[in-house]
Amino acid sequence: MSDAQHLVTLKDWSAEDIRQVVDAGIAVKRDPAKYSTALAGKSAALLFQKTSTRTRCSAEVGMFQLGGQGVNLDWRATNFGLADLADEMRVLSTYFDFLLVRLLEFEDVRTTAEAVDVPTMNGCCNRYHPLQALCDLQTIQEKFGHLEGVRLTYTGIHNNVTNSLIIAALRMGMQINVVAPEMNEAARDPELMQIAAASDNYRTFDNLREAVLESDVVYTDTWLDMEFFNDERFEPEKERRIRLFGPYQLNRQVLEGSEALVMHCLPAHRGYEIESELVDDPRSVVFEQAENRLHSQKAVLLKLAGQLS
Ligand code: CP
Repeated sequence: MSDAQHLVTLKDWSAEDIRQVVDAGIAVKRDPAKYSTALAGKSAALLFQKTSTRTRCSAEVGMFQLGGQGVNLDWRATNFGLADLADEMRVLSTYFDFLLVRLLEFEDVRTTAEAVDVPTMNGCCNRYHPLQALCDLQTIQEKFGHLEGVRLTYTGIHNNVTNSLIIAALRMGMQINVVAPEMNEAARDPELMQIAAASDNYRTFDNLREAVLESDVVYTDTWLDMEFFNDERFEPEKERRIRLFGPYQLNRQVLEGSEALVMHCLPAHRGYEIESELVDDPRSVVFEQAENRLHSQKAVLLKLAGQLS
């Protein structure tokens, strides 16, 4: 791995690193003008092997608002498909000051960070979604005024978002409950699960209602990766997952009597992992959470540029 600081997985980040980004995200949101030239003359390559709304736009706009430039690269419009991944990344690193990559495979994100000497951000892969978890912690910090002791329940399939939430929450002294009848195999990380199992702050539940009653925040994500959701070839698997995860849907009934905040990283499949009305419920903070992707992204860029201390 090069000397540059990267954001490949939050397992590599300390509580202090995370705290700096959460606090900076809040500061940047409060006074964006103060940071309007912080990255003047800097450029970020934003390379996407999969579709994105929030990650791509928050990075592109974030770079612009920091006085720099984000250049969006669709994988299919590049020569990445023809060449050695590390070779192409090394070339990008001679043009750009940051790389943000949304790649299918975690190993390719790691290969990227090892090949280049500019900061690399994992914009979501099959195993982790660290930018999302940092934004989520900012949202929780804003709502509760602290992170330590906040109880978050994640329900649905154990996936890349779950992994990043677990490590982020444990680093910051939060309680993280997981109610997941199944893990997405691509997200399996034995080392992470060992860290979780060793912590009193990590609990698993079979019954969602029981977990909700011990929660300050409830969180869910899609049951099927976005690229598969509307693909006819995955229809049988989609049907199987709807049957399996249906009892783990976030809805007003399971939240009856609870004041827990409702979070979702979006895009949401209304009526599947979350009841449509709950997205718009007063307890829902999903759109503030999505807005915070911008502020948190800017904070991550400042951190990786060495501007936070
Ligand atoms: N939550 C998230 O990463 O959204 P996008 O897939 O739209 O970037």
